Amino acid sequence: MDRDSFNRLWKYSPLQREEELWPFINDILNTHNIKSVLEIGVGGSSSFWCHFCKNGGFYIGVDLDTEQGESNVLREYGPDFPAYFIKGDSRDVETTEKVRAIISIERPVDFLFIDGDHFSKNVYLDIKNYYPFLRSGGVLGMHDYIQGGESRGIYKAVKDSKLEGIIEYSSRGLYACKRSMRSRVKSIYYCIKR
Ligand SMILES: C[S@@+](CC[C@H](N)C(=O)[O-])C[C@H]1O[C@@H](n2cnc3c(N)ncnc32)[C@H](O)[C@@H]1O
Repeated sequence: MDRDSFNRLWKYSPLQREEELWPFINDILNTHNIKSVLEIGVGGSSSFWCHFCKNGGFYIGVDLDTEQGESNVLREYGPDFPAYFIKGDSRDVETTEKVRAIISIERPVDFLFIDGDHFSKNVYLDIKNYYPFLRSGGVLGMHDYIQGGESRGIYKAVKDSKLEGIIEYSSRGLYACKRSMRSRVKSIYYCIKR
């Protein structure tokens, strides 16, 4: 994705910080051959991830309410775009099984973005349920890494998950946005699966 495309897609109002999302896309997604994406918690971000899926890829979005993400993707990419939206609670077995069924006819995804429920125990379940659908060498990204402090939320879930086989990881937002606690709240964690 080039900067012009990024700027154009910004109109979909992702719940992300521009100064953090662009470096993440440019440094990490642009360099890891991303063509397929699974996103837990859809919205303005869906249009960004679908940009990577335009040439032979696919997008899967899971949310309690997929309407916003679906209408964004429809508007930007048209009705024939290979996007699957699953309306449901990401913690439900039924939801995981729907994702599994798609993955089994497609392939494991190149990028998993977890940005649904932010309570630690639920993020933990999202990691447990959906990380297996990420291909080897793929990117796991999560937003709001230290929201609520380091003993809670995404930070705690990542710690508790003890993800194995990580090649490289960074909570780059922590370093990129050190200036205040407010800016530290919205930080992207990512790691690369071995
Ligand atoms: C922070 S928003 C997602 C923002 C989007 N990724 C973006 O950057 O524009 C969180 C989303 O997670 C969804 N969500 C919360 N709990 C969920 C759950 N248990 N299962 C599925 N989706 C959930 C909410 O409906 C909401 O749309």
